[in-house]
Amino acid sequence: SNAVRPTRPIVLVGLMGVGKSTVGRRLAARLDLPFADADHEIEVAADMTVSEIFERYGEAYFRDGERRVIARLLDGEPKVIATGGGAFIQEPTRARILESAIAVWLDADVDILADRVQRRDTRPLLKGNDPLAKLGELAAVRNPLYALAPIHIRSGRGPHEATVDAIIAALG
Ligand code: S3P
Repeated sequence: SNAVRPTRPIVLVGLMGVGKSTVGRRLAARLDLPFADADHEIEVAADMTVSEIFERYGEAYFRDGERRVIARLLDGEPKVIATGGGAFIQEPTRARILESAIAVWLDADVDILADRVQRRDTRPLLKGNDPLAKLGELAAVRNPLYALAPIHIRSGRGPHEATVDAIIAALG
C-alpha cells in the first residue's frame, strides 16, 4: 500500500473487546511499522498473566508496570502500540501518550464489546460482573477521557480491515 508512514508512534486506545490488538497488528503491517501489544509486554516483563498480576499484586501495581512499559515503547522506534483499555485513563500515562504519539480511540457500541469479551475470560475487571453492565459503566466513566485522543474511529460488527482502512484515512 502507499499509506503514509507517520514519524510518531500510533497508540490505539479504547475499551476491552474493541479490537485494539487485532486492528493494531494489521495497521502496523499496512504501514510497514513494527507492532507492540502493551499488555503482552507487561506479561513478558512480569512473567505473569495480566490476571495473575491483578490477583497477586492488585491493580495499582499493574498500572505502574503498564506506565513503565508504555513509556519504554514510546521511546523506541516509531511503531503501532495497542494498549490495555485502562492505560489511557491513567495519569501520567495519558499525558505521556498525548505528548509523544498519535492516539487513536477505537470505539464501538457496548453490546458489540460484550459479545466479543465473552469469547475469552482473561479480563480481571470483568470477573464476576455482567459484561454488558460493567462495560456500560466503564464507557460512561472512560469515554470522556478516550475522547481526548485526536482521532476517533467508530466500528461496528464488520471486518477489522474496514477499521484499519478508516484509521489510515484519518491519519491522512
Ligand atoms: C483493562 C483492560 C485490559 C487489561 C486489564 C485492564 C482495563 O486490556 O489491560 O485487564 O482497565 O480496561 P484489553 O483492553 O486489551 O482487554
